[in-house]
Amino acid sequence: MESPSPQQNLKSALQAAQVWWADMGIEVPPLPVARPKKRAAPQQGTQKSLAPKQAAQKPVLAKPPEPERAGLKEQIAKATALAQAAPTLDALKTAIENFDAGLLSDHAHKMVFARGNPHADIMVIGEAPGKQEDISGEPFVGAAGQLLDKMFAAINMDAQNLYITNVCNWRPPHDRDPSEDELALCKPFITRHIQLCAPKLIVLVGGISLATLAGKTSIMKNRGQWQELDIADTTIPAMPLYHPSFLLRKPELKKFAWRDLLAIKARIQHQNF
Ligand code: URA
Repeated sequence: MESPSPQQNLKSALQAAQVWWADMGIEVPPLPVARPKKRAAPQQGTQKSLAPKQAAQKPVLAKPPEPERAGLKEQIAKATALAQAAPTLDALKTAIENFDAGLLSDHAHKMVFARGNPHADIMVIGEAPGKQEDISGEPFVGAAGQLLDKMFAAINMDAQNLYITNVCNWRPPHDRDPSEDELALCKPFITRHIQLCAPKLIVLVGGISLATLAGKTSIMKNRGQWQELDIADTTIPAMPLYHPSFLLRKPELKKFAWRDLLAIKARIQHQNF
């Protein structure tokens, strides 16, 4: 076996440090993406191209190329007008289904709207659909969704007490995180969704949901800290929670999610919903 290069050693050390920082509850910066060195074109049949490997890497909140960004303002204005004109959840669902969200809606099989009880006091808002959700058209039905259901079952809550959705309505290509522009495009829809449901309490599941709706960038620092979301003319309390996909990878952090669930339960009991 070949011994690792100095670059590989450095990358492994950085990755180990990231896991350590995350365990300590410290905000973990993403690893810088290495710029590929310019190489002489490989002779045919002598060297594999690096391109597929680089393409497979998951970009974090990647900005789409410039042509995608052109017209973004107009698209957001269109989404806002459509969302605000929807008088009911059914109308909102139809408006989103008919909306052209570019790469996002072109690439997805189904628009993912919501599941659970639309009259519930608690709205649970995740990030973006994955493969199972893209197939079924319902949020949180894969492995992360099963853990999410178990987490709420532990505080005696189920689909009758909860209404579950996401800040992004389509599965992003290659399961990457939605880009900032894509989230900005979906934001009018989630804002109207919240307005129509008028929940008493919101659970922000994961950092992307926290950033999109509360404008805070660190789930590590903000989980467990009550937020206040100003939606239309109402202020709604919101609790940021670690994402169940993250907890599946880092089960040692479940104890923090348990504390946050207990805080949600205490607030519900205190306010007597
Ligand atoms: N992760 C999410 O944030 N939402 C889903 O619907 C599925 C996985």
